[in-house]
Amino acid sequence: MKDKIKNASSIEELQVLYSDTFGKNGTMTAKLKTMATLSNEERAKVNAENAELRGLFKEKQTELENAAINAKLATEYVDVTLDGEQIAHGTLHPLTQSLKELSAILESMGFGLWTGPEIEDDWHNFTALNTPEYHPARDMQDSFFMENGNVMRTQTSSVQIRAMEQVGVPIKMFAIGSTYRKEMDATHSPMFHQIEGLYIDKNVTMSDLIATLRTLLSKFFERDIEIRIRPSYFPFTEPSVEFDMKWGDKWLEMGGAGMVHPNVLKSCKINPDEYQGFAFGFGWDRMAMLKYGLNDIRKFYDGDIRWLKNSGF
Ligand code: PHE
Repeated sequence: MKDKIKNASSIEELQVLYSDTFGKNGTMTAKLKTMATLSNEERAKVNAENAELRGLFKEKQTELENAAINAKLATEYVDVTLDGEQIAHGTLHPLTQSLKELSAILESMGFGLWTGPEIEDDWHNFTALNTPEYHPARDMQDSFFMENGNVMRTQTSSVQIRAMEQVGVPIKMFAIGSTYRKEMDATHSPMFHQIEGLYIDKNVTMSDLIATLRTLLSKFFERDIEIRIRPSYFPFTEPSVEFDMKWGDKWLEMGGAGMVHPNVLKSCKINPDEYQGFAFGFGWDRMAMLKYGLNDIRKFYDGDIRWLKNSGF
């Protein structure tokens, strides 16, 4: 048995030998069972044999285990010079990207960011904006009304009112956020985004408005942008204009603007004989689509990672 243990070539083989020796029917187990009948001398012999065999098994086991580890170390190793695995990382959504850019530009021009609720009350979305209940502009906007008379805000102009009510004048603020109207096609989504600007002080004029819009658009599109204004109508501005921007050889409609109507200032307890200023509002989605060459507004909200990856981000 001793030679067999010494010559065992694997842990498995050693385990078989061990159970032949010390298992239930093992040779050593049988001898130990007879101890009570043995003389002292014989007992000492069995004990010595028992200890020797156990020692041999232990030794061989350690030897075989070490050999296994060494064999593994010889064949397996980590090549620390290999390239790491590429981890795919996310990018900002085109709207988030353009939001950051537009906010930075407006802030650099002295406009402070304001926010307001997306579920608005009638006062802030319509009445204070010189749009009383009978006013046709309420239909014009195809609003989503709630049962309690509140409305999913149809325009970020509501935030102008909140800002003026809270801090009064002079004020130079902008708001940027979701707006809601019942419309849906390739260039209209029932939820879309607007950017709103307001500047009220003692000497603010229409030319400040034009310069502000031109600077904002030029900085955003990183080139000199030509703009033009056309007479228009909004209940909350007088005079009202729509502004277009030159894009290639076309004029693109960008948004609405004008000098804030005296009634709006009065709604916010501001004296229109002392203070005046401009407001503008336009589609943030549109800006992002133009800048990044995207043609379907609905893609912004599909969450399709393949489209987002290919949209230049
Ligand atoms: N609120 C207008 C719209 O949604 C845009 C606008 C804002 C016009 C501010 C004039 C002044 O169409």
